[in-house]
Amino acid sequence: MLKITTVVFSVLFGLLVLSDLVHADGAATFNTKCKACHGPDGKGNPALKMMKPMDTSKSDADLQKVVADGKGKMIPYKGKLSDAEISEVVKYLKSLK
Ligand code: HEC
Repeated sequence: MLKITTVVFSVLFGLLVLSDLVHADGAATFNTKCKACHGPDGKGNPALKMMKPMDTSKSDADLQKVVADGKGKMIPYKGKLSDAEISEVVKYLKSLK
């Protein structure tokens, strides 16, 4: 019985660490590729007057499309970031408040 409990807890702990790493991935992409324009919290870099806060109430699919295809002065990231990276960075955007 004790063994099963140990296994269950190890697996749960492993998943927790893993989900944290995946999340950190989106954060790393944001910090290296997006923060310069969008600011540390997605509200925009005050030095760049063109930036308005991101509307993260949009659906994941809509946000992923903007990141992939670009919008206005923002360059498209299709080909620069993988689909997985784009979906992770969008998840990270949604976690920003
Ligand atoms: C060169 C500056 C710049 C960089 C770098 C940049 N963006 Fe943008 N981004 C913009 C601008 C400007 C807009 C607004 C476009 C508009 O509304 O005309 C925008 C809009 C967006 C939007 C849409 C927000 C909305 O309300 O529709 C998302 C999502 C977004 N960016 C995500 C990202 C992500 C993710 C990255 C990094 C992979 C990134 N941006 C990198 C300048 C940038």
